[in-house]
Amino acid sequence: MAEKDQQVHPLAPANGHPRSDEESVSLQSEELKRKKRIKYAVYIAAFAVFQTVVILIFALTVMRVKNPKVRIGKVTVETMDTSNTEAAASFNLRFIAQVTVKNTNFGHFKFDNATMSFLYDGVMVGEAIIPKARARARSTKKLDVTVEVNSSALTSTTTGLGSELSSGVLTLNSKAKLKGKVELMKVMKKKKSPEMNCTLILNLSTRSLQDLKCK
Ligand SMILES: *[C@@H]1O[C@H](CO)[C@@H](O)[C@H](O)[C@H]1NC(C)=O
Ligand SMILES: *[C@@H]1O[C@H](CO)[C@@H](O)[C@H](O)[C@H]1NC(C)=O
Ligand SMILES: *[C@@H]1O[C@H](CO)[C@@H](O)[C@H](O)[C@H]1NC(C)=O
Ligand SMILES: *[C@@H]1O[C@H](CO)[C@@H](O)[C@H](O)[C@H]1NC(C)=O
Repeated sequence: MAEKDQQVHPLAPANGHPRSDEESVSLQSEELKRKKRIKYAVYIAAFAVFQTVVILIFALTVMRVKNPKVRIGKVTVETMDTSNTEAAASFNLRFIAQVTVKNTNFGHFKFDNATMSFLYDGVMVGEAIIPKARARARSTKKLDVTVEVNSSALTSTTTGLGSELSSGVLTLNSKAKLKGKVELMKVMKKKKSPEMNCTLILNLSTRSLQDLKCK
């Protein structure tokens, strides 16, 4: 048996470091285990990086709350009376303003009743209520608002009206501030108050909107 044993291990060193088969096998499996552990560590690290990137993208797109945009989309004139005599210039009109609320967020924007003011040369000439509503996620809410404006609040110091009416146009400015909240994932709510600032130019001969600019 002893002779056989020696034949099986011809390379076993006679002295110094004895190295049996079992020892080398366990060393090899230790090495394998070490490599596996490194592999798992790399996987976990890669997954953590991936997860971080996903969360970052999510935070920068879906969870980022942008201010909705409120403006006038179009104007339909119903009645329009203007007079421009030597003594006085005046206007009195009624129109339907289509108010648009563009919400680019991934959650809806809910806002309360708001007052929309119309000004001529900085003087308030009429008001209307934008009714409370909800603009759905990534969509534009359109609301028709009937507006009545007249020049009764203008004084003789507003000298521009006569000459403007003579040129065939009437320029009005509209302002409004919507107060509301953007709701994300049914839990996160963020207050947003978008403002309207539009300039409307009405053509007196066609009795319709000629130009519209919103900030
Ligand atoms: C909003 O306006 C409507 C009419 O347009 C009115 O009936 C309602 O009471 C107002 N709501 C609030 C909270 O002011
Ligand atoms: C002019 O507008 C005011 C409100 O701005 C209103 O009280 C008044 O009745 C209006 N006048 C006419 C003639 O429509
Ligand atoms: C009003 O509209 C008519 C028809 O489009 C146009 O010919 C005219 O130039 C406009 N008036 C002004 C002052 O721009
Ligand atoms: C509204 O826009 C006009 C120009 O169109 C600008 O002069 C004015 O400062 C703006 N007002 C606000 C409150 O942004």
